[in-house]
Amino acid sequence: MSASAICNCRCRGLAATIHPSYILAMFDFNPAADADKVTLYDDLLSAADALTAEETDTIANMANIAALIWQFLPDLNWAGFYRMVGEELVLGPFQGKTACIRIALGKGVCGAAAASGETQLVEDVHAFPGHIACDAASASEIVVPVTKDGRVVAVLDLDSPTPARFDAADKTGLEALVVRIGSRLA
Ligand code: SME
Repeated sequence: MSASAICNCRCRGLAATIHPSYILAMFDFNPAADADKVTLYDDLLSAADALTAEETDTIANMANIAALIWQFLPDLNWAGFYRMVGEELVLGPFQGKTACIRIALGKGVCGAAAASGETQLVEDVHAFPGHIACDAASASEIVVPVTKDGRVVAVLDLDSPTPARFDAADKTGLEALVVRIGSRLA
């Protein structure tokens, strides 16, 4: 990761720090505690773009994006990826408690997002037919498909213990995120 990647990161309210004496460069992103949702997603997107710009390894990029989301977005109990492997979703990098490993296409919220190619915004997971409860604490969920060349290659899944935690601003922000960096996740 080069210093220029860091200089190009124009994240408002963020500190991006490189330690030139180390062999490994390290980012230190600090989301503003009082930022509104739009600003938070702008900053998250800038940070995600800078972190993944020069890395081609899909798993490494997913791992860092999951960690960034966990750091930037409040009130989550799970954030991460499921990857399309053959005809099913398989657990990818995430933050939170251990989770279901394989999800069939069309099953649960993740399977619905992968099968339809559409974001699933679920205010009450208990009202979603076929919801898969990996963590009994989950109350609401949003799942955004990641596409490449017109096909779904993964889904980004966020869970919250708060009912109706996710709204249209989250949908817009997360969809913009996967559009910007989706090609680096596949
Ligand atoms: N709730 C998801 C399963 C994945 S976990 O939330 C991590 C679903 O219904 O597909």
